[in-house]
Amino acid sequence: MKERTLVLIKPDGVKRRLIGKILSMYEEKDLEIIQLKIVDPDLNLIDFHYKEHITKPYFKDLERYFLEGPICSIIIEGEDAIQQVRNINGKTDPKEAAMGTIRYMYGESKTRNLVHASDCKESAEREIKIWF
Ligand code: CDP
Ligand code: MG
Repeated sequence: MKERTLVLIKPDGVKRRLIGKILSMYEEKDLEIIQLKIVDPDLNLIDFHYKEHITKPYFKDLERYFLEGPICSIIIEGEDAIQQVRNINGKTDPKEAAMGTIRYMYGESKTRNLVHASDCKESAEREIKIWF
């Protein structure tokens, strides 16, 4: 089924000039970039986006990471886009991510893993509203 999902290229991805490489990995799987922008989110927006993680031990590191610089927010559309994009990104921890995934190739750690993608239809709808 055709659906939409939200992707964020985290600050290190933008800083390391990886936007083009990352986008081409989605496009190669026949996914379509519907909207795209560079944003410099404040802490409120970051906390709202990651509200389910606020009590987690890694949350402060995650906040600091997201404040390092601009991020790239993207709406992607395609068949089974939510799962497809998560497959292309790879597992949260780059050490566990499958070969060829974005996190395997470019991720530095469980926190600094370069990309975010919505995990279900409800999250996608919620997150698209936050960033667009
Ligand atoms: O991004 P994903 O859905 O794969 O993972 P998550 O469990 O929803 O966690 C959200 C983000 O928090 C991750 O992408 C990491 O940047 C960070 N995180 C972390 O720093 N340490 C963990 N143990 C788990 C997540
Ligand atoms: Mg998640």
